[in-house]
Amino acid sequence: MTTTAFRGGTIVDQSGERTADVVVDDVTGSIVAIGPEAPVDADVSIDAEGCLLMPGFVDLHVHLRQPGNEAAETVESGSRAAALGGFTAVVAMPNTTPCTDSAAVVREVMGYGKAALCEIKPSAAITVGRDGEALAPMGELVELGVRMVTDDGTGVQDAQLMRRALEYAGSLVVEDGTSIVLSQHCEVTALSQGGVMNEGAWSSRLGLGGQPAEAEELMVMRDIALSRLTGVPVHMQHLSTAGSVALVRAAKAEGHPVTAEATPHHFTLTDASCSSYDPVFKVHPPLRTQADVDAVKQGLVDGTIDAIATDHAPHTVDSKEQPFDQAPPGMLGLETALALANTELGLPMGRLVALLSTTPARIAGLGDRHGGPIEVGRPANLAVVDPGHEWTIDRAESASLSTNTPFHGRPVKGKVRHTVFNGEPVVVDGRATR
Ligand code: DOR
Repeated sequence: MTTTAFRGGTIVDQSGERTADVVVDDVTGSIVAIGPEAPVDADVSIDAEGCLLMPGFVDLHVHLRQPGNEAAETVESGSRAAALGGFTAVVAMPNTTPCTDSAAVVREVMGYGKAALCEIKPSAAITVGRDGEALAPMGELVELGVRMVTDDGTGVQDAQLMRRALEYAGSLVVEDGTSIVLSQHCEVTALSQGGVMNEGAWSSRLGLGGQPAEAEELMVMRDIALSRLTGVPVHMQHLSTAGSVALVRAAKAEGHPVTAEATPHHFTLTDASCSSYDPVFKVHPPLRTQADVDAVKQGLVDGTIDAIATDHAPHTVDSKEQPFDQAPPGMLGLETALALANTELGLPMGRLVALLSTTPARIAGLGDRHGGPIEVGRPANLAVVDPGHEWTIDRAESASLSTNTPFHGRPVKGKVRHTVFNGEPVVVDGRATR
């Protein structure tokens, strides 16, 4: 057994801020002492002076590419990127090859997750093969521990099938008190097809096919209605338009059980970035206008949007180095989320803890192990952040097997210094320990 003390930092969790040493233990995986009241002897001491000790972050939306595209990412490399970003748990999306729509593939991903540097929670597809035609065996997958189902990469187009999926999820009883989350990539493909960026002034000027905001908003609207009809919660992935934020705000005001996430790229970048024709700026849903960025930020500030999720989507250099309209959509996100949120949102750290940790942990059904509070006896899953550290994002330093970050060269403030997963310091002084 090794105990590690993080000394001189300030704890920030749902009960506020206090300066204290925190001791974690890698055998029980728990927090064993918190100073200054308790004795804080430990085998190893790690400096946390000037840092904030936060509950480890939880990402509701990552693509780890395994099985099927191990050249772009593996569960191991993605988990290292996650740990470096302060994440202690991530929900892996099911658009793997083969698709994560069966017990066999869920077990396979869980198997890879055993050696990972953070908790890997597989999600599973809503429909077989993510084809939008027949429901996947949700009951069997939930028994294995799946708590989120999504066809991410595409939305469920058929309203009747989505209604059945909600009813199916609502009928399943989960013994541990968590619930099953239907997570929707909101995009009506009849409207978005042929589009490779946001439809607007920039798509016209660049001569690239556009996806209108309405392609997203129609499905947000429809799924709010289906949630109302069935009484079953819906989680909206990567909201990108002002209209979507307004719809979710209104649905929440009416008491509907809707939750939503937004990505760092949707609160920092606009469709003007596409003017370089660099496919690193191609993503689904696409980068939108400044008014949309402002609305997404406002949604994060006022609580309309519940969580920051990265949609970490690694692609190999070869696949991204194609003309804009042919390159696959997607951007890296795990290692830069905290810094971008800290730099761009102007929120107090306590709110960032809610958006990056406590609320996504609850939505993912991981609240027993992640999301705080930081107390003796609780699982030791922590991110230790230096809020004043100024640095420049460099794609060459990424632990991901891919390099497709749109933030290369961007100055940011706030850095994850140490990460603790199950009592083990998996990142110390900005370096992964394994
Ligand atoms: O940009 C995206 N990339 N959006 C998605 O929905 C899928 C993802 C991917 O898998 O690359």
